[in-house]
Amino acid sequence: MAKKPARQYGCTACGAVHAKWAGQCDACQEWNTLEELAIEPLAASSAARAVPGRRVRLEALQGVVQPPPRVRSGIAELDRALGGGLVPASVVLVGGDPGIGKSTLLLQAASKLAEQGERVLYISGEEAVDQIRLRARRLGVEGAKLELAASINVADIIATAEAEADVRVVVIDSIQTMWLETVESAPGTVSQVRACAFELIRAAKRRGFCLILVGHVTKEGALAGPRVLEHMVDAVMYFEGDRGHQFRILRAAKNRYGATDEIGVFAMTDRGLEEVSNPSALFLAERRGNIAGSAVFAGLEGSRPVLLEVQALLSPKGGDGAPRRAVVGWDGGRLAMLLAVLETRCGLKLSGMDVYLNVAGGLKVAEPAADLAVAAALVSAATGVPTSPGAVYFGEVGLSGEIRQVSQADSRLKEAAKLGFTQAVLPRRVARGSAPTRPPEGLSLRESGHISDLISPDAQSE
Ligand code: TYD
Ligand code: MG
Repeated sequence: MAKKPARQYGCTACGAVHAKWAGQCDACQEWNTLEELAIEPLAASSAARAVPGRRVRLEALQGVVQPPPRVRSGIAELDRALGGGLVPASVVLVGGDPGIGKSTLLLQAASKLAEQGERVLYISGEEAVDQIRLRARRLGVEGAKLELAASINVADIIATAEAEADVRVVVIDSIQTMWLETVESAPGTVSQVRACAFELIRAAKRRGFCLILVGHVTKEGALAGPRVLEHMVDAVMYFEGDRGHQFRILRAAKNRYGATDEIGVFAMTDRGLEEVSNPSALFLAERRGNIAGSAVFAGLEGSRPVLLEVQALLSPKGGDGAPRRAVVGWDGGRLAMLLAVLETRCGLKLSGMDVYLNVAGGLKVAEPAADLAVAAALVSAATGVPTSPGAVYFGEVGLSGEIRQVSQADSRLKEAAKLGFTQAVLPRRVARGSAPTRPPEGLSLRESGHISDLISPDAQSE
């Protein structure tokens, strides 16, 4: 007698599979995220299992490697984030908050591709065809020979894509709305999302078209539905940005065919997304150099240098509670550490102050190299003395207040010089290991070994 398959439960946050239901996922500690998975009984009979395996061919490590062919979308910032364009038969997941601009970006990219003569199917499970047409009109791409459908039925979509031999790209907006009849759960559940993605990916690999899946992201920033989706696809791109700001960043979090952390920068306008080929100029456009509490960070996003303004505001703590520490665009834990270092090593009295820190423009900075710029902004806010308007800062700060080396100083310096900055405050060169940094023309270097240099710039510490 066939054994009834055991029940299984998947976590919607991390994708871990459990044999028993529980209120909390053991793997990621999230609450109320376990959902029953629809399991298909394994067909493997004992006879099937008895077939002996065949030897696979073993290959040498050396050999001729062809770079994968690329289909360029015609949107340079998108191609850059993808590592040069879409790879045929690859699957890209584009994640982001609802309303951030995923559908806009993909409609623009799909239209561009169609204009170049590629056959592109744009399947929406969220919007009716008329709505897509209206959007296309607003974006000024209504002339593109794009093929649209409003459908959530994965079997139908696959049948359609396979019936046409020359389909190059299929966009699915969004995977959370897709539905497979054979899976007994609602769209958006772990089982559905996983099964739909699996079938679509199989079809893409079989027929060689590029598959672009849109996925919504939860409040916590994880892809809603199973994170396992990230393991199934070839590339994961996150579309980030603050909805109140114009800037949108497309960031590669995983890429089997290119570098991760490569970014594409866009600005959302009333005619859709515009490419930003010089992000530093845009991020600094509204900077007012003569105000205390602001410092320019020479940062790095992937291989691309980006200058950003870090703003700090201090105000005397109100009430009896703990002082406020509000951070936008940076890590709150690192801010707490820097405040402690500034207080202990430099004698700045900050514990009685509310601290607000903001990376202007809505970009999220993850690099420890921003420490020095943040410290400079905090020192400037505390002393009321503006940082030099021509200066950029980068360097990691350690617990004793020492300033540590960070990667790719040269490209940061080059970007600063390109944008007309005249001075860079950076970690003191260490004798061993690092190649000497020759400053680009017009830029003077102020090497610094300790964070206290920020307070008394002339009394260089040894
Ligand atoms: P959308 O692409 O629908 O977001 P997502 O698919 O990620 O949910 O973008 C919606 C937002 O973008 C919406 O708030 C309106 C804004 N928008 C513009 O500002 N300009 C435009 O040209 C378009 C099409 C949208
Ligand atoms: Mg959308």
